[in-house]
Amino acid sequence: MKFPPSFSWHETSQEDGKKYDPELVFQAGLKHHGISNTAFPIAHRSTMQPYKVPNDDIESVAVQVWDGVSEMSLYVHIPFCEQRCRFCEYTVVKNDRSYPQETMYFDALGREFVMYGNLIVPKDKKIVGFDIGGGTPSFVDVRHIKQVIDSAVGCFGLSSDIDISIETTPKIAALDFKKMQELHDMGIRRISMGIQTVNPALLADVGRIATSAQWNIEAAEHIYRAGFERFNVDLMYGFARQSLESVEATIRHAIALDPHYITLYRMRYKGTLLKSDAENVSLEDVNRQVTLMKTILKEGGVYRQIWKKHF
Ligand SMILES: C[S@@+](CC[C@H](N)C(=O)[O-])C[C@H]1O[C@@H](n2cnc3c(N)ncnc32)[C@H](O)[C@@H]1O
Ligand code: SF4
Repeated sequence: MKFPPSFSWHETSQEDGKKYDPELVFQAGLKHHGISNTAFPIAHRSTMQPYKVPNDDIESVAVQVWDGVSEMSLYVHIPFCEQRCRFCEYTVVKNDRSYPQETMYFDALGREFVMYGNLIVPKDKKIVGFDIGGGTPSFVDVRHIKQVIDSAVGCFGLSSDIDISIETTPKIAALDFKKMQELHDMGIRRISMGIQTVNPALLADVGRIATSAQWNIEAAEHIYRAGFERFNVDLMYGFARQSLESVEATIRHAIALDPHYITLYRMRYKGTLLKSDAENVSLEDVNRQVTLMKTILKEGGVYRQIWKKHF
């Protein structure tokens, strides 16, 4: 693979070049279990930053890294949300329904589609997946989501047999059936909804106030009625002040909604507004919570059924 001379992400940073005793690394991982894992797209100054492609090189690097690749997936990040949950690790903008801000963002996205469409010649590549994530993509005007799908079709030759996936909150799915229908009708077949927990006190504690168990039920009904073929529910564990009783109530509630998938997210504290809570969660607590959820999922074969049906 050839890169421009100024491009240097393949050079190991000084920090990453240091060698440590594996036993010490293991112990540090156990001690800092709440922050020692991470996820895209957090930009850490000492981990990701040294490997960032300089702005001037982005286009030429894009051409080179995609050269000769026959299959690719698209991901579009929609950063807008109605609220900023304190646990959230993603790149998010709290939006007050200011359409000019939204319109500017989607127009810029459209220009990126055109640029990358021209640069990497997607006609000779098969698009095998398309995820519209966030943030809360269902929060924005549906015309903007349609604009993104049309750009993907026009610039990357996205075909109609690709399962497009989107994310929503329970509130939007529960209160706006028409929007669910419109999203489905524009070709989106998979939808993912964040429940996290059904404990109202814990939801308030982690800054996720606009939600309720009743909304989860209505949201699931709307999602099925709109015709989505694949429905995923996100749950979270590893919060400080999260009891085993509330973990159990949450997993039983999620199973009762009968989704195709249940994704269990262990709380990752690094870079979030809850980072000071990390030291109040022991590895034993976290392991007890996830073991309980998996046991309940396995009861009656729910776990296996989900697994067998969809993988
Ligand atoms: C893009 S986010 C949220 C989608 C949607 N906006 C919502 O709130 O339902 C996808 C999922 O990531 C998980 N998540 C968010 N922050 C996290 C963190 N700090 N650690 C682990 N999982 C997290 C949540 O379960 C969330 O539903
Ligand atoms: S969890 Fe969802 S709604 Fe909350 S800030 Fe993150 S993306 Fe937005």
